[in-house]
Amino acid sequence: MSASAGAPLVLAIESSCDETGIALVEAGSRIRSNVVASQVALHAPTGGIVPEVAARAHLRWILPVLDEAWQGAGASWDDVSAVAVTRGPGLAGSLLVGINVAKTLAWVHEKPLVGVNHLEGHVYAAWLRDPGQAAGAEPVFPLVALVVSGGHTFLVEMTDHLTYRLLGQTVDDAAGEAFDKVGRLLDLPYPGGPSIQKAAESAVRRDARFPRAWLGDTYDFSFSGLKTAARRTVDVARADAGLREPEEALPHAVVAELAWGFQDAVVDVLVAKTIRAAREVEARSIVLGGGVAANAALRQRLAGEAEALRVPLIVPRPGLCTDNWAMIGAAGARRFAAGERAGLDLEATPSLPLAR
Ligand code: KG4
Ligand code: ZN
Repeated sequence: MSASAGAPLVLAIESSCDETGIALVEAGSRIRSNVVASQVALHAPTGGIVPEVAARAHLRWILPVLDEAWQGAGASWDDVSAVAVTRGPGLAGSLLVGINVAKTLAWVHEKPLVGVNHLEGHVYAAWLRDPGQAAGAEPVFPLVALVVSGGHTFLVEMTDHLTYRLLGQTVDDAAGEAFDKVGRLLDLPYPGGPSIQKAAESAVRRDARFPRAWLGDTYDFSFSGLKTAARRTVDVARADAGLREPEEALPHAVVAELAWGFQDAVVDVLVAKTIRAAREVEARSIVLGGGVAANAALRQRLAGEAEALRVPLIVPRPGLCTDNWAMIGAAGARRFAAGERAGLDLEATPSLPLAR
């Protein structure tokens, strides 16, 4: 199987954080391959990403990942229309590895080079299709997209391809970061997001109430107050249960109720702001992405409210909501189709914004 005649095939490279990913994406939507080398095990002993260690691991793995991306893709360099690469935001040393490899490949194979914003990649995941998957409902403009992950939380309006109006973003922690921190406070396994969801689903009592940071009528988000409130509530619950030693655990029923209360507060704000934005811009689609989009309560509530508003909600499968390389190919294909070309002077921009 070679690339369909005329359908541009984009080779996408992403190395913005701790995973080296390369994908081949056809026609801006069909995934031909999507390969990753993850550094999770490498960073586990330090409990966080050490930027220089991450950059060195990208350097070690990027060419083997490229080799694997070609396996089974049924395509060759002759089929490739452009090389797309994440130019930011992310860790400088990590971004530089992907950008340098992308430049070299583009130069050697005489292919156009396209720079992609990692954040727009999360939005463009909504256009992706797995191999063999039939075409589904595509997002329609104007749309609002909520991207919620461990690193980002923002709400954006798109009136056309590649045209972003940032409606709001977090002023402190990302939503996933809040899930992870509160998960730790509740002594739940890392990452906190799925653990909190699981605990919340088992809650019998659902009376715990955490503050909602509405930040007036803005579309901005804040989760740090929620984290402080969670810490205070855990302290009170421990005192009430007569627990004095750190190794004494709170009863599961209490943990479950607190997890439910925290999740409810986060979901309330995310859903309310997204729906208000969709109403205000008269959106014809709502897109949800980022790792936190795996949260069942968030998906259900947003789906219910979007349906009431009669606006289709598009949520990629979980593996395409979290960081992936195909999303860089989907966004890169749009930039390529729009005639954008990056020069070999393309730079890494660690704090690249999506829009102002
Ligand atoms: O997009 P992602 O894989 O990585 C980046 O942050 O780039 O997102 C990871 C985040 C973590 O904070 C994790 O706790 C959260 O997504 N997450 C969830 C769920 N699954 C993953 N949060 C809430 N509920 C979930 N089911
Ligand atoms: Zn991301």
